[in-house]
Amino acid sequence: MCGIVGIIGSSPVASNLVDALKRLEYRGYDSAGIATIHDGHLMRRRAKGKLRFLENKLKDEPLEGLIGIGHTRWATHGKPTEVNAHPHVSEGVSVVHNGIIENFKTLRVALEKDGYVFETETDTEVIAHLIASGLKAGQSPEDAVFFTLSQLEGAFALAVIFEGHEDLMIGARRGSPFAIGYGDEDEPGMYVGSDAIALAPFTNRVAYLEDGDFVVLNGTGAKIYDQDRVEVQRKISTSMAQTLVVDKGNHRHFMMKEIHEQPDVISRTLSHYIDLASERVDFSALDLDFKSLPRLTVTACGTAFYAGLVGKYLIEKWGGLPVDVDIASEFRYREPLMAEGGAALFISQSGETADSLASLKYCKAKNQKILSIVNVSESSIARESDEVLPTLAGPEIGVASTKAFTCQLTVLAALAIHIGKSRGVIDEALEVKLVRSLVEVPRLISELLTEEKRIEEISHSLSQARDVLYLGRGTSFPIALEGALKLKEISYIHAEAYAAGELKHGPIALIDENMPVIVVAPEDELFDKTVSNMQEVAARGGKIIFISDAEAERAGCEIVDQIKMPKCHPFVAPLLLAIPVQLLAYYTAVHMGTDVDQPRNLAKSVTVE
Ligand code: M6R
Repeated sequence: MCGIVGIIGSSPVASNLVDALKRLEYRGYDSAGIATIHDGHLMRRRAKGKLRFLENKLKDEPLEGLIGIGHTRWATHGKPTEVNAHPHVSEGVSVVHNGIIENFKTLRVALEKDGYVFETETDTEVIAHLIASGLKAGQSPEDAVFFTLSQLEGAFALAVIFEGHEDLMIGARRGSPFAIGYGDEDEPGMYVGSDAIALAPFTNRVAYLEDGDFVVLNGTGAKIYDQDRVEVQRKISTSMAQTLVVDKGNHRHFMMKEIHEQPDVISRTLSHYIDLASERVDFSALDLDFKSLPRLTVTACGTAFYAGLVGKYLIEKWGGLPVDVDIASEFRYREPLMAEGGAALFISQSGETADSLASLKYCKAKNQKILSIVNVSESSIARESDEVLPTLAGPEIGVASTKAFTCQLTVLAALAIHIGKSRGVIDEALEVKLVRSLVEVPRLISELLTEEKRIEEISHSLSQARDVLYLGRGTSFPIALEGALKLKEISYIHAEAYAAGELKHGPIALIDENMPVIVVAPEDELFDKTVSNMQEVAARGGKIIFISDAEAERAGCEIVDQIKMPKCHPFVAPLLLAIPVQLLAYYTAVHMGTDVDQPRNLAKSVTVE
């Protein structure tokens, strides 16, 4: 999703702005631009497509100046063209913006009546014109921004610079994240950005705006105001972003690097929740009485939602606690009834997903205890939660989530054991058994990753398909959903997942000899039922790819390929089954030559509704 940076420095800022934007590339974007002020003049360069096109422009037409703002745009209003790329300008005011201005049409009509001519199709341009009109009416830059903010509806973050002011930048946050970086004596300067990763090359001293805040920066500091324009202090903390390695290592794509990191990051996450010596789970830091909890409401989007679905199976079956799981974009709009004394759990890699954050606020207003499973500890969702259960996956750069997903499953599995213990449905012997099964997971995934070549071969046939069907039962159903999502996201092949038993209620009509059907079927208590569904597929000519620890003969029908899984306890099967569906999607996409790490139209962190 859009990325914002801003720098007031002591040396020319253009190349630093581009470097910071490169660190935001992972969020997904389709155009980019920067603006600086030099010798009293505002100048900008913008380009459609990847940052290298902007860099080429800057080579031909460099920008000078000690102050500037930059942006990577993920199109919402208007096509991804150079004209629509940020920064936008109006009479010496330049703005970069992340989010959506919901009432932009009304504002645009009013501004057009006042004679403002719009160059772009974006919602952002109204912000530049509104601020410019305030300045024209004699307001100070601070007053003009503050008054403009009062007219905007929606969730957004923005940064503004003003021609003639080379030591002034104003930023604001409503919904979308906004970090402020503080330089030091050795490296004087002030920085703003969509996240601390963007600011990491310059500083690790970072403060975060809270919702409704706006900030006025000069080269030596920042004054932060809340929505009532009362000056406030926001804690400056030491960001860990500088220590995070964000390169591909020896891998061709971040996604592949992240798939291969899974044994390590799952181990790291496990060691946070498990006392390996006693083989018991350790949630002593979590202040919530699960014994008296009436139910748990889980809310998330995309892959994190599928982790939540697996969590429902695990927590209900092993923890004995009723769980509801919802897609965050639907959740709050159906105005769900929340149990008195209940708890709500939010799952999010980025911790910034707009729908999840809005649902969290809804649950907070309904007096729910707020828990979150997040990968970015400094994120908005983490900061808004009563209790944070971190995944220790490290930065996930590939847009398609892989290691964050399996780390979410790891936390949910450990949590299910803790809940089962608290509610008296898991005794010590069972706890030890389940913990042992979890501790085996990293080794089993490493073993599975040695099968990569075989999965790569199978993916060649998938790349010929127009549609692919995924089937699974129990916890394998959400894994089938995740497999289909992965394939769609990065290969652009249409894929759908069904609970295997649902097949005969409609989707079976799709099956013919051109349809690859990926059946996720661990040899568990539901295996025989899945086998029956698989036979229904085979009888209609469907090409079955069988992902199972069972021998191929157990399928009882013709299969075109099998990905043989290692044996494991059914409790941890979803963690292992996630790996082949990730690899199938990855190699299919590589074979098709798509942009695996930054697939078209997608953003890593979805900060708009
Ligand atoms: O950062 P979040 O976990 O909240 O993101 C949720 C979804 O946007 C995300 O999982 C998305 O579906 C991924 N692209 C899946 O690979």
